[in-house]
Parts: sequence; structure tokens; C-alpha cells
Amino acid sequence: MPSSSVRPIAALTIELFRPADHLGPAAELLAARHRRVARLEPALGGRFAVPEECRALLEQAWEDGARGAVAVRDGAVAGYLLARSGEGQRGRHCWTQSHHAAYSPAAGPAVLHRLYAALSADWLADGRLHHYVVAPSADLPLWLTLGFPHEQVHAIADVPATAPTAAPDGVRKAVPTDMDALEPLLGLINEAHAAPPVFAFTDQPMWDVLRSGHLELMNDPAVAYWVCEGQDGIDGFVVMRPVPREEASILKPEGSVELLLAATAPHARGTGVGRRLTEWALADAAQRGHTLCVTDWRAANPFSSVFWPRRGFRPVAYRLHRMLDPRLMGPEHVAGV
Ligand SMILES: CC(C)(COP(=O)(O)OP(=O)(O)OC[C@H]1O[C@@H](n2cnc3c(N)ncnc32)[C@H](O)[C@@H]1OP(=O)(O)O)[C@@H](O)C(=O)NCCC(=O)NCCS
Repeated sequence: MPSSSVRPIAALTIELFRPADHLGPAAELLAARHRRVARLEPALGGRFAVPEECRALLEQAWEDGARGAVAVRDGAVAGYLLARSGEGQRGRHCWTQSHHAAYSPAAGPAVLHRLYAALSADWLADGRLHHYVVAPSADLPLWLTLGFPHEQVHAIADVPATAPTAAPDGVRKAVPTDMDALEPLLGLINEAHAAPPVFAFTDQPMWDVLRSGHLELMNDPAVAYWVCEGQDGIDGFVVMRPVPREEASILKPEGSVELLLAATAPHARGTGVGRRLTEWALADAAQRGHTLCVTDWRAANPFSSVFWPRRGFRPVAYRLHRMLDPRLMGPEHVAGV
């Protein structure tokens, strides 16, 4: 084995993350990771390739309640893992965002393995059975070995520079008086998510906010809400929103536009409605000066997992969701003899 290869993981010690000591080294690791990721996907841009920007992200994460640990080797931080606790619609959980975890290439991704092992026992003891991680594509194998399956795909597409300048027949901006015609379509995304094989937990509040949420988007001057008219009403919609500066992140480059929502009525699926709407929505975004579009979808959704890659979206990160066996919290579980 060459002397430059990864050194034994046993040489690591795990310490609680202390902002005064660890924000600087963690920001260095994150910036280096972003440079590696951006070499594979240049569209993610250079803003987070510098430690100063990453430090600001991590300071905000700490302020927002993200806590965790660092792995130290030979006195230097070789990796860190943070997570934010939460509950509600997502279950009682710990959530690691994309910027909440990074490691030095010399130590290797197994550092995250050690950090997760060190933190997750406390998460379980706190009744947090749901563990979410948003991981860059390169870290996927590590998280899969830790029992995390895909839940959501985060992707980016180039907005075509040479695009049509007029909307195709039937495609137009929505107006609030379209709400009644749109009503049968508003729940289609929830339906696709609640149905097999996605089986996403969908509670009543998620249905209750549909009408007001769509109306709010339609009335937002920054949002482009496109509909496609068919013979008997509205056949589909696509909603685009410029990513606000304060929401720009390591996965959403500043200046990009986000494809927020899309659905086609079941009777019109497979007839090109979604393609026409998406192509036009991207063309319109190009005219507004956007060069990149981000979106995300449920990995198990049989519609979107086929449709978005065919529209040019390249996966850059995955939200992974591990749910621990609830029996681990009960008296019948024997942790050791
Ligand atoms: C995803 C969705 C919007 C696609 O809309 P659509 O109007 O049916 O799509 P189109 O008819 O324009 O199909 C466009 C292309 O995708 C292909 N396609 C669409 N659905 C497909 C499927 N389920 N399997 C394989 N190919 C599919 C079409 O064959 C066509 O191929 P092309 O790229 O060679 O042109 C639609 O299936 C839908 O509303 N799904 C339920 C709601 C949902 O999941 N929304 C997405 C949330 S992220």
C-alpha cells in the first residue's frame, strides 16, 4: 500500500463541535469539498469554494440550532457532522443539510461513518428515529452503507440560451380567475407522493394549504406560473420562481431559477403537455437572464424520476432518509449481554 493512502480510522478521536475551535477548520473542509464537487458539476459555481462563504453558512447553521461533532486526527479536524433536531410532519428527526458534513480526502468518507456512529446513539435515546441527510452525489456510497436510502433527488439544468421567444399554442400565464379550473389539478403532486411506490406521509394540512399556496404563487410578481389549456379546461401547470439571494445555497446557485411545481391532468399525460410547458418555462427564464434551473423530486416517483432527467436535469445531491426500527426504543430490545 503506498504511504499516501488513507490511514487507519482508529487514529481518530471524536469531540463535540465547538464553534470557537471548529468553525474555521470545518469551513476549510467544506470549501475544499465544494471545489471537488464543482469540478464535476461546474454549474454549482464558485461562491462556496472559499472558506469565508462556507464559514458564514456554518455560523448560520449553528445559530439555527445545528449541533454535532468533529473527528480529530493528529490535532487537525479531519471531518465534521452536524444535524438539526425537529419534529412534526417529518417525524421526530435529526436533519443533516448538505453543508452540515464534510471530511478531508486524506481521511476519507469513513470519517463520517465514525461521526454518525458517535452521534446517532444520542439521537435514538432522544426518540429521534428519523435521520435525514442531504449528501452530494460523491458521498452517496458511504451513506448507502449506513442504511440510508434515497428519498429526494436535487438536480440542476442549464437554461437553453437559444430558446423560442413565443409560448407554444395553449401555453399562457395563469391568472387568479383560473383557480377554479385548476382546482382538480392542485392535489396531483400530493397524490403522486402519497401513492405507491412513493408512500410519502401526507397529512391533512398538506391538502388544506393547496389552494391558498397556489394563489399566493400566482399573485407573486417574481413567479412565472404557466398553464397549458386543453379542449376542456387546463391540462397542466409549471411554476418557476427565481431563487431569492437569501435562499441561494451550496445546491442552489445565486441567480438560478427554481422549478417549484409541475403536474399534468391524468387524461393528458404522455401527450407532450409537460414537455411543452417545461420547455417554454425554461425559455422564458432564459429571457429573464437565468442560465441555470434547479429542481428536486421524490426518487421513487415513477413520473418525475423519468421526466426530469429527460428534460436535462442532472442530479447533484440526494436527500436520504433512514428510519430506525421503533422497537429499538422498547424494553424487548437488548443492546448488549
Ligand atoms: C411528470 C409529469 C408532469 C409529466 O407530464 P406529462 O405531460 O405527462 O409529460 P409529457 O407528455 O410531456 O412527456 C414528455 C416526455 O416524458 C416521457 N414520459 C412522461 N411520463 C413518463 C413516464 N411515466 N414514463 C416514461 N416516460 C414518460 C414521455 O414519453 C415524453 O418523452 P420525450 O422526453 O421523449 O418527449 C406528469 O407525469 C405528472 O403530472 N405526474 C404527477 C405529478 C408529479 O409527479 N409531478 C412532478 C412533481 S416533482
